[in-house]
Amino acid sequence: PTIGIVILAAGRGTRAGQGCQKAYRRIGGDTVLNRVLKLFRSWNTHCPIVIVHHADDTSLLEASIDCDFNIHTTTGGVERQASVLHGLRFLSSLPKSPSHVFIHDAARPFASHTLLNDVLESLIKEPLTGVIPAIAVSDTLKRTDSNGLIKATVPRDGLFRAQTPQAFKLQTILNLHERAATSASLYTDDASLLEEAGLPVRIVQGDSQNIKLTYSSDFEEGERLLRATGP
Ligand code: CTP
Ligand code: MG
Repeated sequence: PTIGIVILAAGRGTRAGQGCQKAYRRIGGDTVLNRVLKLFRSWNTHCPIVIVHHADDTSLLEASIDCDFNIHTTTGGVERQASVLHGLRFLSSLPKSPSHVFIHDAARPFASHTLLNDVLESLIKEPLTGVIPAIAVSDTLKRTDSNGLIKATVPRDGLFRAQTPQAFKLQTILNLHERAATSASLYTDDASLLEEAGLPVRIVQGDSQNIKLTYSSDFEEGERLLRATGP
């Protein structure tokens, strides 16, 4: 397969607070987005990379990344789903559009080359099957009523926590996103679209360090990770 990469950075980072969109915040001295770009560029030196950003963030974006990454940019939409669609459309409009796409949240700067290789290896074996990294749930799960009283213990067999990057055949996920854009449902990850269409998606072992920066406390966790593992 040939690979293109969509990096989603067009959210508002409301839950993380701090007034500055989280992709442009620094963690361990480097911006979150620059870390993500370094991760992918050092993994693959020439695949097309498109950053989906918010129209208001153009100068922040320029100030936040090293200039020699050879990347494309496009603007996002109000929901993550719309931002993904913009990124996919961009990749498919390239003269040499890639056969497959990795869709990654800028908010996950701690993904590793091992993880990217595991995802790619699965794609190579089964090019029509989507692939996502995910981690089996280990906590005991409880369902409650609206008063906070437990109604049931939910069996956790077969339950996983999904991560990104999620990888797909570009034309397949683009078609599904085009169709989803005309429907009322909102999808919080991209594998859901294949699932709903009855198309296969395989899980590869996720990485516990591949945390998503959602709340301010996740930035603290990220700083701890960097101190423990180095830059
Ligand atoms: N994202 C995006 N476009 C949107 C919404 C989200 O590109 N309209 C991106 C975010 O930039 C982030 C990823 O999708 O990298 C995952 O979303 P989330 O963690 O929810 O980030 P935000 O939407 O920015 O944060 P919040 O929901 O707290 O506002
Ligand atoms: Mg969000």
